[in-house]
Amino acid sequence: MAEAATLEDRPAAARAALLEVENLDVYYGASQILFGLGLAVGEGDTVALLGRNGAGKSTTFKAIAGIAPPRRGSVRLRGREMAGAAPHRIARAGIGYVPEDRQVFPEHSVEDNLLIGEKKGPTGKREWTLERVYDVFPILAGMKGRMAGRLSGGEQQMLTIARTLMGNPDLVLLDEPSEGLAPIIVAEIGKLIGTLREMGVTILMAEQNMHFCLAVATHAAVIDKGVVVYRDTIAGLRANREITDRYLSI
Ligand SMILES: Nc1ncnc2c1ncn2[C@@H]1O[C@H](COP(=O)(O)OP(=O)(O)O)[C@@H](O)[C@H]1O
Ligand SMILES: [Mg+2]
Repeated sequence: MAEAATLEDRPAAARAALLEVENLDVYYGASQILFGLGLAVGEGDTVALLGRNGAGKSTTFKAIAGIAPPRRGSVRLRGREMAGAAPHRIARAGIGYVPEDRQVFPEHSVEDNLLIGEKKGPTGKREWTLERVYDVFPILAGMKGRMAGRLSGGEQQMLTIARTLMGNPDLVLLDEPSEGLAPIIVAEIGKLIGTLREMGVTILMAEQNMHFCLAVATHAAVIDKGVVVYRDTIAGLRANREITDRYLSI
């Protein structure tokens, strides 16, 4: 029974929800993109926000990160309201955001890119150091001095994830980490996310690729036309053919 229970079925006190998003309405100009969107991410969870192209995944992340401020609704990190705060404040409060376009500083070395991201976490912790990053991302250790602009797409994806971790966030938002990468590189990124999960890093990742998420996520939220239509454990999603057929391209 516990295995099949949805997030909503569990008593709120049983899980420390690190991030709680409720009733989010987001507009671009006059057009509404998100409609009363809700989701939650528990400490240590890897939650996949799954949905087709145009469903509103990136907009959800931009709203959480403060780049597309919500018109209504709530974004709470450890109970603290973030909705309406400036992006740099939200980042400082502990939300690390890796956008879809994985921007690196192309004219700077890999190591400089990492140092640019270095800061203490919201509670002063410094879990992530250069040494730790090179340990977890050995591929970056081998190219410290290389200009970031010369890295492959997969290497740049790893570098942006690593740079975000250097800011010691409590929660990492990964927007389509597998997008546009060759299958062998996607597998590498998947392994890396699995390693981060085992280290206890809390992750919310947007994806269209369900198979990628089945292997690495613990929980899933399915978004369609700006609404979260389903929330469950990843095992629950896997078993639910109706939802996967209806909302996700396989
Ligand atoms: N800057 C923008 N201005 C107007 N509409 C936008 C903008 N960005 C995205 N949209 C629209 O918002 C919807 C959701 O987009 P997005 O959040 O990028 O979806 P996803 O990341 O799931 O592919 C789409 O219909 C898209 O066309
Ligand atoms: Mg997107």
